Amino acid sequence: MSVDAAALQHAIERLRAASSICVLSGAGMSAESGIATFRDALSGLWARFDPAQLASPEGFRADPSLVWRWYAERRAAVRAAQPNAGHHALAAFAKRHPGRLTLVSQNVDDLHQRAGNVDTIRLHGDMLEDQWLDACPRAMSCDTAWAAPTVPPRCEACGNLVRPGVVWFGEALPFVALQAAEQAARSCQAMLVVGTSGVVWPAAGLAAQARRAGAFVIIVNPDASDIDGDAQLHLPDTAARLLPLLLDSL
Ligand code: OAD
Repeated sequence: MSVDAAALQHAIERLRAASSICVLSGAGMSAESGIATFRDALSGLWARFDPAQLASPEGFRADPSLVWRWYAERRAAVRAAQPNAGHHALAAFAKRHPGRLTLVSQNVDDLHQRAGNVDTIRLHGDMLEDQWLDACPRAMSCDTAWAAPTVPPRCEACGNLVRPGVVWFGEALPFVALQAAEQAARSCQAMLVVGTSGVVWPAAGLAAQARRAGAFVIIVNPDASDIDGDAQLHLPDTAARLLPLLLDSL
């Protein structure tokens, strides 16, 4: 895989000229840190596991311990992983250019944050966080850390279960995060879309919003995605290889 030098230069010039840049990242961003994507044909999680069982409120209620254990394994893998050169290039750029980059991520790992992008807008939650499954019947705001250490942890008073703090299929995205992401998409001069298949909405719609508002949209992905038509430029290579080439000289 190699990116045409003229296309790379074109992308760099567009980014250099942009006073505001929005980055939308997906699972491919963390692939070179050893975290599996969802939809890659052989290695993707949804090629091996059933999202209806493992990533929906109904699946969790049907077999809470199975789902909890699956997330426990994924949490361990994320904790053992390290940010890659792509995460570091984005964090270093944000540090050199305060206020110029807005990072919006679909990723539920914490690799952008650990690289230094602590204000990343997280559309799909945080896999390492716990939250209660249901509203407390007694309207108490108990800390999930007080839950009894069963699998999954549960409230000893009412039986409420603890679940991972991610957005599952059929659930709404966090309103404030989505609003901030849409605002960033509509107001940026350039958008970099990194490592997403572009099949999950509403995140997948952000590139089109940016394009309609006049932004130059660049996709970094070794393969085709569903939103290639929204971009002026597709750079077919990986996040860890391309992001340093795109950003380090700016
Ligand atoms: P997908 O697994 O759907 O897509 C990953 C994309 O990354 C594919 O288009 C790959 O070609 C690309 N890719 C793979 N390796 C790459 C690399 N090294 N560099 C750059 N790109 C690479 O992941 P998402 O689009 O993020 O939801 O999936 C969207 C949502 O669906 C996820 O946030 C997740 C899932 O269900 C939740 O976790 C709530």
